[in-house]
Amino acid sequence: MSEPLVLGIESSCDETGVGIVRGTTVLAHAVASSVDEHVRFGGVVPEVASRAHLEAMVPTLEQAYAQAGVDVSEVDAIAVTCGPGLTGALLVGVAAAKALALAHDKPLYGVNHLAAHVAVDQLEHGRFGERVVALLVSGGHTELLLVDDIATDITLLGSTIDDAAGEAFDKVARLLGLPYPGGPQIDRAAREGDPTAVDFPRGLTTGRDVERYRWDFSFSGLKSAVARHVQHEQRMGREVSVPDIAASFQDSVCDVLSKKAIAACVAHDVPRLVLGGGVAANQRLRHFILERAEAAGVEVRIPPPSLCTDNGAMVAALGAELVARGVAPSSLDLPVDSGM
Ligand code: KG4
Ligand code: ZN
Repeated sequence: MSEPLVLGIESSCDETGVGIVRGTTVLAHAVASSVDEHVRFGGVVPEVASRAHLEAMVPTLEQAYAQAGVDVSEVDAIAVTCGPGLTGALLVGVAAAKALALAHDKPLYGVNHLAAHVAVDQLEHGRFGERVVALLVSGGHTELLLVDDIATDITLLGSTIDDAAGEAFDKVARLLGLPYPGGPQIDRAAREGDPTAVDFPRGLTTGRDVERYRWDFSFSGLKSAVARHVQHEQRMGREVSVPDIAASFQDSVCDVLSKKAIAACVAHDVPRLVLGGGVAANQRLRHFILERAEAAGVEVRIPPPSLCTDNGAMVAALGAELVARGVAPSSLDLPVDSGM
């Protein structure tokens, strides 16, 4: 077969994404986000997300067909995220993919959302011929993965034991009176601040935690430390410097993420790191990672921001890889698995 033409559908959180790729070339990349509907709640509300996917699915599919100049009748396969994610949200994408597969007699591939975040790098830098470590950091997940084979062999080295990295950014932003989503706001505010102004804790990096939680992360203690600091300053009648707190908080998160990610590359003798998820857009994280990677001789691959956040092209990219390798498709009974 020439390079497979694959439609990918993503609906695990608050983005409805439809992508169409031919091999590693993106033909369509359409995303509808319900982020605005979650603003007043300060975080993603599952029921609101599911309803938004229902409303956005058909228009987003049509947008993708128009961008690519092809429709579902012409594709070789349909790939869809079947987990991890919000159950109700995943169900919308999986139901749409099954309906299209059945109606047009196309093979269906259920793919793992995290693997798709890694596979998307192939659209930018070509197919993986080698092992990589991946750091995925978004509002919903924080994982460190060892990828021996993008289709068959991914090991979860570690993850957050409480809040996701993006969630920590969002919660601290809220504490500081900045709007949701807070990550870009903190990134911006921190540029005017002093990252050494407040010495916030670096989760799971001291004492016995170093051994026990070698590749894991924790951000809820940091969030509480920021809250305590703000309250203390207010009690003392001092003005709270949002830029200083933002910069100090951000340094704590990015220091730990980058240290552990590069240490994982070194420990597993893997000279490549792929970044994914919305937090990969953070300037300070990129700075720390690039600096430490250079010192350790590790090559860093960061897909462009529009491919780092949730989208359908990443699902199509992984689907195309599976088709190219002759992997058997999923059954039309494909279940969703919110926690896999
Ligand atoms: O991947 P994404 O778009 O959606 C999922 O959560 O799955 O990631 C969104 C998250 C939010 O928590 C947002 O605050 C965070 O990524 N984010 C950032 C930045 N841009 C987005 N966090 C830190 N710095 C940024 N520049
Ligand atoms: Zn994601």
